[in-house]
Amino acid sequence: MDAKQTVRRALEHGLVVPAFNIPYPPMLKAVAQAIADEDSVGMIQVARLEWEKFESGSLENIAEEYGKYAVPGHTLLHLDHVPVIDEDHLEVDYLALIRRALAAGYQSVMVDGSRLDLAGNIAATRAVADLAHEKGVPVEAELGAVMGHETSQATIPYEEIFARKLGFTEVDEAKAFVEGSRCDWLSVAVGSVHGAIADNLKDQKKPAAKLDIERITELRNALNIPLVLHGGSGIVQDYINRATKAGIAKINVGTEIRQPYERAMRERNDPEYAREVVYTRTRELIRDFLHTANDAKVLND
Ligand code: 13P
Repeated sequence: MDAKQTVRRALEHGLVVPAFNIPYPPMLKAVAQAIADEDSVGMIQVARLEWEKFESGSLENIAEEYGKYAVPGHTLLHLDHVPVIDEDHLEVDYLALIRRALAAGYQSVMVDGSRLDLAGNIAATRAVADLAHEKGVPVEAELGAVMGHETSQATIPYEEIFARKLGFTEVDEAKAFVEGSRCDWLSVAVGSVHGAIADNLKDQKKPAAKLDIERITELRNALNIPLVLHGGSGIVQDYINRATKAGIAKINVGTEIRQPYERAMRERNDPEYAREVVYTRTRELIRDFLHTANDAKVLND
């Protein structure tokens, strides 16, 4: 399967490709199996913060685990958030990580320059696109501020973020960004928030996020590339369906499967039991929340 074609097909058919985060390696087998058993197509993804702050180990470790449990026709391997400046405001050697991901067999990669100014984000994304495209690998980038990872921003009430459209992706900027950066997919800030990762917040329930469907439609019409929604956990159901029809072609889901895994491990300290919990939850999400069950045929044709 080719990630670029699959996501493009999702966009054309008003469908979405879910991408599930793997902060703990035992989750991977359960998620891959759930995707296949729902006859869905989904990505297995890991972000840098998941090997720095959780237990995924390294991007190579997840690629190796993926090699054992990938299901052809159903799963794809994606590298999520490689920040240029990370959530602690430290500089990251992002090009080195992208090179390692390309060598390890990732089928698509994300560079997150959203903490830079527009010109800086364009330049960093363009450097990654030049590297990845040489290997035929598509690149996801981010423009605007999808809040949540920074502890300082978590204090702004969600309703205020949404009402004031704080950090939302602007259409004109996005046009200039896509042209200059040559990214293939764009993660947009339109109302969703990342699940918190700070120790004092990561077990909390996420706020019920809404989405600015009008902004998604404007972005889709102006850019004509697949749009990506981060912070998929906890979005009000009806918005997911409408966003998918409006142009969101990939949606990231982390907290909804991480928290059940952590709870199960606290309860019994048995990775096999925690895997079962994640398997069941992932199937429910695919069927009842994301509505991507039985999409494999359309997305692979
Ligand atoms: P959630 O944890 O809110 O589902 O977000 C996941 C995500 O966007 C990873 O990039």
